[in-house]
Amino acid sequence: MNSKLSSIFIFCILILLAGCNPTDQISYEERGLIAEYAMVVSAREEASKIGLLMMQQGGNAFDAMVATELALAVAYPFAGNLGGGGFMVYRLADGKSGTIDYRERAPMAAHRDMYLDENGEVIPGLSTMGALAVGIPGTIAGVFEVHRKLGSLPIEDILAPVIELAEKGVVVTEKQAQRLAGYRESIVKVSGENTFFAQVFDENDTIKYAALAETLRRISRNGSDEFYKGETARRLVKFLQEKGGIITLEDLSAYEAQWRDPIQFSYKDINIISMAPPSSGGVTLSQILGMIEEFDLKSVGHNSPDYIQVLTEAERRAYADRNYYLGDPDFVQVPVEVLLDKAYLKNRISNFNFDQATLSSDVSHGHIQFIESEETTHYSIIDQFGNAAAVTTTLNGAYGSKLYCDDLGFFLNNEMDDFSAKTGVPNMFGLIGADANAIAPGKRMLSSMTPTIVEKNGELLMVVGTPGGSTIITSVLQTILNVAEFEMTMQQAVDAPRFHHQWLPDHINFEPEGFTKATLEKLKSKGYNTNEGYTPILGKVDAILVLPNGKLEGGADKRGDDKAIGF
Ligand code: GLY
Repeated sequence: MNSKLSSIFIFCILILLAGCNPTDQISYEERGLIAEYAMVVSAREEASKIGLLMMQQGGNAFDAMVATELALAVAYPFAGNLGGGGFMVYRLADGKSGTIDYRERAPMAAHRDMYLDENGEVIPGLSTMGALAVGIPGTIAGVFEVHRKLGSLPIEDILAPVIELAEKGVVVTEKQAQRLAGYRESIVKVSGENTFFAQVFDENDTIKYAALAETLRRISRNGSDEFYKGETARRLVKFLQEKGGIITLEDLSAYEAQWRDPIQFSYKDINIISMAPPSSGGVTLSQILGMIEEFDLKSVGHNSPDYIQVLTEAERRAYADRNYYLGDPDFVQVPVEVLLDKAYLKNRISNFNFDQATLSSDVSHGHIQFIESEETTHYSIIDQFGNAAAVTTTLNGAYGSKLYCDDLGFFLNNEMDDFSAKTGVPNMFGLIGADANAIAPGKRMLSSMTPTIVEKNGELLMVVGTPGGSTIITSVLQTILNVAEFEMTMQQAVDAPRFHHQWLPDHINFEPEGFTKATLEKLKSKGYNTNEGYTPILGKVDAILVLPNGKLEGGADKRGDDKAIGF
């Protein structure tokens, strides 16, 4: 072929490619697991398998939700839990959507200044370690309420494989062995040297959870009341009170999960359904997307300095609003409508220009380190009927309060730290709270968890979420943009390097090795503070994408042991 002919040939090929649907150009090697009908993506293969088993047995996404949630409590005690809480966003096959809030609550004996000393200063560690850090757990109430309203299989059939897993045991992965070793000292400090997790567990060891299996068997027999009013409740309260906690039987028996309307909004041609307060996830995600909507992100380029600048400036403004206005809507008035108003958001970003960073403030600059980025866990489910569930559940910190109840076989959360212990003083994520998130008896602490479902043209497109404390919202944001703006596959979108800004402290965190020196230098030249010291991973996203041909693609984050399983 002469050179003129070969140019014409290449031109024709390019024209043909340009005419294709971009998703058809991506080879299957670049994609995550593909399944025809149903899928679970979670932090552990054992949990994904048990969730999928429910759907293989004819159950739906909500049977799978109950099974996956409780299997994570066995296989992933780092964040999976009976002693914590969470949120689920769902979308039924007919397009109806909703959410359930099974967030922890402050006990009735809790009060605004409970973590302050006589000088009004925050006592370090009191809201993060030990029994006083524990909020009333919501997980068992949450899964039973999901099952009551939306499930289809008998609860005993759902719990049976979970109990079997606890009895047979779970093999320790390399990452799990590292985490257990890293936190052993603080677990022993809080729970005593004879506690179960004082033992050294190495990679490939099998951990059997006999006490947890027994607790789950009683719950399977007696239902949710077992945890909140029965023998388990009495043993839990006795344990907590012996350890200096303030949760009572009345606190447990009064706990209820709440169905809440989702936060719904559009971004360009997609519709997003996410979690409402007491999670800040949906509101803050909506604010950021509302502020960046007018920018042509595709042309500035993925993770380019301009892209990072636009997102950072929107994040800065949205987190400032989050920290001031958001709290438990059963206790404080949250101005959701105003915060989501497009004109308000346009005005909020109007003083941004590409030449210079807008500095947040000098307060708290650079003093907060994200030391526990993997706490919390998220899983995504789509069933063979077209129902979808995005679920994020947490103990807050890694292994929660580090308080392990050996009698019942689970860790207790340290969710009380998600309240604002004192206005202006950062919590363990560096988040600075205000009155709206002050502690009050029975109140739910503000969360950043962002389980989210995305629709396009009225059809289900994506189920997404992640752990990561305050970085949850920006990780979900970037995953959605990776697909919606940059046409990445689900696996590429989940694996792509991430960055994060949260107003205060006023610096951008970058994942290691994901960004060039030239990018960081350009940002610094405009006045951005960049955190280039030790920076852990940001988020661990587990997501499912519905492909144009109707098949499902899983995105199981390469940062963890996460696994997509489907059929
Ligand atoms: N405990 C983390 C969160 O709810 O944001």
